[in-house]
Amino acid sequence: MKLSRIEFLVMNNPGRRWVQKHFEFRIFKDFLKQYNLDLTGKTILDAGCGSGYSSELILKELKPAKLVAFDLMPEQINLAKKRNLNADFFVGDMTKIELPASTFDAVFVFGVLHHIPDWKKALAELSRVLKPEGVLLLEEVKGSFVEAVGHCGFKHPEEAMFNWTELENELQSAGFKILEKRKIVIEIFKSFLCLK
Ligand SMILES: C[S@@+](CC[C@H](N)C(=O)[O-])C[C@H]1O[C@@H](n2cnc3c(N)ncnc32)[C@H](O)[C@@H]1O
Repeated sequence: MKLSRIEFLVMNNPGRRWVQKHFEFRIFKDFLKQYNLDLTGKTILDAGCGSGYSSELILKELKPAKLVAFDLMPEQINLAKKRNLNADFFVGDMTKIELPASTFDAVFVFGVLHHIPDWKKALAELSRVLKPEGVLLLEEVKGSFVEAVGHCGFKHPEEAMFNWTELENELQSAGFKILEKRKIVIEIFKSFLCLK
């Protein structure tokens, strides 16, 4: 589901980029270090990449050989392309990823699943495009919070207002083993490291 005008503005500003770099991305880097997972020279997917700031961090800090990134909104992909990064950006849908199976060593997803009515299908697709033993780095927002902000111009699909137990169960159903989970400052936001 596309972002409302207000969420588009909230997501694409310097404050959000600061939080993404110093909290969200840092937690993922901690996870990788903790499990001795080196993504240098690997093939990475940034699914639901938004305006491409996460892709920029991945390229600069993890040095993959190849980075592919997509988002549902053409407006976001236009902004991402303007960054002139060494990445393949395209408009795409996480419930129907137009890429072959077992392609990626790692997939990053920053706060996207709660925008997708059929989020379970999206998880199955992420599992499909990951290689066996590939890693999923997923960040999400608790459904009750998503529901609460619905009154402030942030529109999200009701089907995707999952709680943490529902998300963890579905990760396992999609073939992932959860290696680590950590709240991002407060319980409303959580990061997961999963192994296929
Ligand atoms: C909250 S924003 C996060 C964007 C980016 N990951 C970030 O952290 O800045 C959610 C993003 O998910 C995208 N999105 C929503 N549904 C999607 C889908 N089915 N497939 C791919 N991207 C989707 C939206 O267009 C939006 O850019």
